[in-house]
Amino acid sequence: MSGERGAEPVLRTVALRKTYRSRSGPVEALHGISVEVRTGELFGILGPNGAGKSTTIGILTTLVRPSGGSASVAGIDVVRDPVRVRARIGVVSQAGNLDRELNVLENLVFRGRYFGLTASAARRRAAELLERGGLAHRSRAMVTELSGGQARRVAIARALMHRPEVLFLDEPTAGVDPQTRISLWQTVREYQRDGLTVLLTTHHLAEAEQLCDRVAIIDHGRVLACDTVSALTTRTGGDTVLTVRYDGPAQDLTLPELPPGVRKTEVDGDRIRVFAAHTDGLLGGLITAGAARGLGVRDVTTVTPSLESAYLALTGKEYAG
Ligand SMILES: Nc1ncnc2c1ncn2[C@@H]1O[C@H](COP(=O)(O)OP(=O)(O)O)[C@@H](O)[C@H]1O
Ligand SMILES: [Mg+2]
Repeated sequence: MSGERGAEPVLRTVALRKTYRSRSGPVEALHGISVEVRTGELFGILGPNGAGKSTTIGILTTLVRPSGGSASVAGIDVVRDPVRVRARIGVVSQAGNLDRELNVLENLVFRGRYFGLTASAARRRAAELLERGGLAHRSRAMVTELSGGQARRVAIARALMHRPEVLFLDEPTAGVDPQTRISLWQTVREYQRDGLTVLLTTHHLAEAEQLCDRVAIIDHGRVLACDTVSALTTRTGGDTVLTVRYDGPAQDLTLPELPPGVRKTEVDGDRIRVFAAHTDGLLGGLITAGAARGLGVRDVTTVTPSLESAYLALTGKEYAG
């Protein structure tokens, strides 16, 4: 593994665009995505379904052709030199795609052989990775016999057979239970500690928040913000967000005098959102204001400063990942 933390970015996209041709017409998946990932980072692309996460990863891993802009891995352009790019990256797609005809060990060894390892080097590397992933006891198991978490760990190990510099994980924990998710996070972190750069996509706010060094929030093919979680939270005000949902439209409410510390309020359909340093004592006034218009309160939520409150501040809507 080469490069230093904080040196030239190992991944770079500049104004990346993608238009898919489909039977129902063109689909504009990316409208200019620019991100940089530094060597050794654990970087997350966070966004709801259809945001363009898989398309971005697809371009960086040479599987999807961009319609505009550029993308490079370790300075190598993905369109001009896809073969050299592929030698440097490991990819775990959203589907996982282990070979179901082969057992766990064979899945890894075949991949090693494909990348030019000798049979004995491939077996050594596979054994090492299976040990590392806590999978040594499953090496003779068929893929169909694995739990969801084990299958994902095998897919990650397989992607690392040729010692890539960068690991791409497209929604590595989608569809697994919370406990498995946390243990997969640990596995990913351990690989990163060994010097691997990791780019993952996720639609889970908590995953981006708890796992990643830096996060790019994307939606509708655009980067809304890109920074560390704490910088995103501070930059967007670092407020607590109190949301009151009424049983009818909230736009005609006369709001009570709001105490100091309230930075802004937003009306969104049946709800009012208050962004404030602290939300003590706000709720009573909002209930009274509703009652004055014959509105009852359906529910109340409080989001403390976090990636979730940052998302609310950036987009003006709840995150619906
Ligand atoms: N092969 C394709 N043909 C047409 N449209 C596609 C194709 N792949 C993705 N899209 C569309 O591009 C947009 C972005 O998709 P995708 O990158 O898969 O998002 P995400 O991974 O964030 O869910 C969506 O509107 C999706 O429907
Ligand atoms: Mg996807």
